[in-house]
Amino acid sequence: MERVVVVTGANSGIGLALCERLLTDDSQLRLCLACRNMQRAEAARSALLASHADARVDLLHLDVGSVQSVLAAAQEVKARYSRVDFLYLNAGIMPNPQVNVKAFFKGLFSRNVINMFATAEGLLTQQDGLNSDGLQEVFATNLFGHFLLIRELEPLLCQAGHVSRVVWTSSSNARRSAFSIEDVQHRNGTEPYSSSKYAADMLSLALNRHKNSQGLFSSVTCPGLVMTNLTYGILPSCFWTLIMPIMWLIRIFTNTFTLTPHNGAESLHWLFLQKPESLDPRAKYHSLVSGLGTSYTQARQMDADEGMSQAVYSELLELEKVVRRKLAVKNAEKEAHGQYLSEIE
Ligand SMILES: NC(=O)c1ccc[n+]([C@@H]2O[C@H](COP(=O)([O-])OP(=O)(O)OC[C@H]3O[C@@H](n4cnc5c(N)ncnc54)[C@H](OP(=O)(O)O)[C@@H]3O)[C@@H](O)[C@H]2O)c1
Repeated sequence: MERVVVVTGANSGIGLALCERLLTDDSQLRLCLACRNMQRAEAARSALLASHADARVDLLHLDVGSVQSVLAAAQEVKARYSRVDFLYLNAGIMPNPQVNVKAFFKGLFSRNVINMFATAEGLLTQQDGLNSDGLQEVFATNLFGHFLLIRELEPLLCQAGHVSRVVWTSSSNARRSAFSIEDVQHRNGTEPYSSSKYAADMLSLALNRHKNSQGLFSSVTCPGLVMTNLTYGILPSCFWTLIMPIMWLIRIFTNTFTLTPHNGAESLHWLFLQKPESLDPRAKYHSLVSGLGTSYTQARQMDADEGMSQAVYSELLELEKVVRRKLAVKNAEKEAHGQYLSEIE
């Protein structure tokens, strides 16, 4: 039977590399690229069709950072497909990153260099802002929009006698210390990216607890350090070019410098081939690469906390109610305004 796979943020980087790998595996797939920028989505589709001429590649407009867009995209998915087998929650942002240059150079020539690149601990902060829904942008994009998408697609993801999977692209930068349940959106901190990824890890745990019995299984991945638009946004590209020889050298001694999107997509692709019952809900599946350049997947235990995961899940459900109420009021106002205009015309 044809499998339906939806990938968010599929127009570049790890998402696009994943799509390429999935089509190489299964040319019968029905692949849906869920993207914000449709021009880039078209280009990604053309690139995929250039190497897989008979593939079925659909495009879907989705700005995962906008509630209205998520709801509209979910409607469209429900209209197009009768079920979703895999939902890859891969879109992500790290806006206005600030690097602590002093800490970076100190780390570059220290024993901590690998850990520094792997986790960016003590090195990276971001400036976040509010989006048009009044939500913190990083939280909305990396976590809440995806949560809402799952909620909207539950009728397709939780079907009797059928197994569906969601796969999160998390990060080794997901740190418990950056997250506070009192400030889920990370309004008051300077590490919204780290906070959003930790919350995604906790949400995945909760989804497994609540939804496995309904046939929905969730997994978390870490792509390693990959050179993509996201990483090029952290430091100027000339700088990356300059330190790239050092990076390739370090790569011999560590396995987390996956560097290419193809290698970064390793664990996301690996999960596609696994039976969900064989997976550990408390594990994060890491894309790694050996000294000889062979990529592989390794499960490592997450900093898992069942109490925290339940708290995150409850907070998101509450916020969903608030957001839906606000949207209903906004739509009612719009309708009333439209009616008023048609009456005075
Ligand atoms: N690169 C790394 O080293 C690394 C490490 C750990 C985790 N990750 C995670 O890997 C995932 C993919 O990132 P990447 O490294 O491949 O970077 P990337 O090339 O910048 O890809 C990010 C993707 O997300 C999309 N996106 C951003 N905001 C969106 C929105 N509001 N709605 C829909 N799509 C949106 C982008 O589309 P647009 O064209 O519209 O911007 C793009 O397709 C992210 O979740 C990131 O956090 C990356």
